Amino acid sequence: MAEKSGRVFSGARPTGRQHLGNYLGAIKNYVALQEQYEECVYCIVDIHALTTVETTQNLRHNTREMALDWLAAGMDPQRSIIFVQSHVPQVVELHTFLSMVTPMGKLTDLPTFKERVRQQPHNVNYGLLGYPVLMAADITLYKAVAVPVGVDQAPHIEFTRELVRSFNYRYDTDVLIEPQMVVTEFPKVIGIDGQNKMSKSLDNHIEISATPGETTERVMQMVTDPARVRRSDPGNPDVCNVYSLHKVFSSQEEVDMVNMECRRAGIGCVDCKKLLAKNINEYFAPLRARRAEFSSKDGYVNDILHEGAARARKIAEGTIAEVKEAIGLPE
Ligand code: TYM
Repeated sequence: MAEKSGRVFSGARPTGRQHLGNYLGAIKNYVALQEQYEECVYCIVDIHALTTVETTQNLRHNTREMALDWLAAGMDPQRSIIFVQSHVPQVVELHTFLSMVTPMGKLTDLPTFKERVRQQPHNVNYGLLGYPVLMAADITLYKAVAVPVGVDQAPHIEFTRELVRSFNYRYDTDVLIEPQMVVTEFPKVIGIDGQNKMSKSLDNHIEISATPGETTERVMQMVTDPARVRRSDPGNPDVCNVYSLHKVFSSQEEVDMVNMECRRAGIGCVDCKKLLAKNINEYFAPLRARRAEFSSKDGYVNDILHEGAARARKIAEGTIAEVKEAIGLPE
């Protein structure tokens, strides 16, 4: 029985195989929330992806790879609606209606927009500016009360809340619902460079469905406490990302051991990383086995995504009808 009423919505761009940042920052929460809320809606936001990608060559492949990770991680199509954004076109309609109550300055002021402009100065398109409006349309189309995301998405959720208030005020309605942001225990997972948010574009990621060998190779590349130059130097686990991940994937005894031995140079970084890689591989072994099984079944992923879209469309049609009525569009 769900303890909390209402619907959860979250989305992620189809970036292919998922990494530890997506997993700890989002997917783990998506799975847990299935137990807590009446209904969860999880969306692969392919239209959002068009604002940043240079080519759509890998879009279909990346969508499938991501869906496989989601399903293998325990996102359950029996309980949740799992679908592709462009399969429910009502979101584009709602995006247009919302854009009429969106002040331009709000969009250009967003830190996420400014960062994107820095990252892709050659491709600052209209869709990129409207990215948060489309995100607000995603969330409000499904009348979500809770949105699980990593902390990088906080400005977008706050923007959505403001937009809901503007829309409801302008049309004197309560048809749109103000969502709450739900952050995980790991709102910002750092990459193997030990500095930046883990992300594919920075190539500082560790994929959850990598092979044990690939995982070990990536873990061995992790940047540790920069002050610990020689094996004999004592280290400081508090500034080491390897230690942060031990706290997630290792037993309490191992975490205590690493904490103590690192500080007195009793354990070197190589052994510390080997232990972490072993534990990450053990943690993800069941997920990787399920993934291989799902991947071998012809049509399995597509059928789930199409069934999810059919369920999502029913909700979307209802909301759009209410929105048009609230605006007062001709019948
Ligand atoms: P995206 O595709 O960048 O990331 C998907 C989810 O993973 C989280 N995440 C992380 N969390 C912690 N540490 C990291 N290193 C890390 N990397 C990624 C993100 O916070 C996100 O929750 N705009 C969204 C997609 C979106 C959406 C929505 C989300 C579109 N519509 C509606 C919620 C509701 C995005 O680009 O996420």
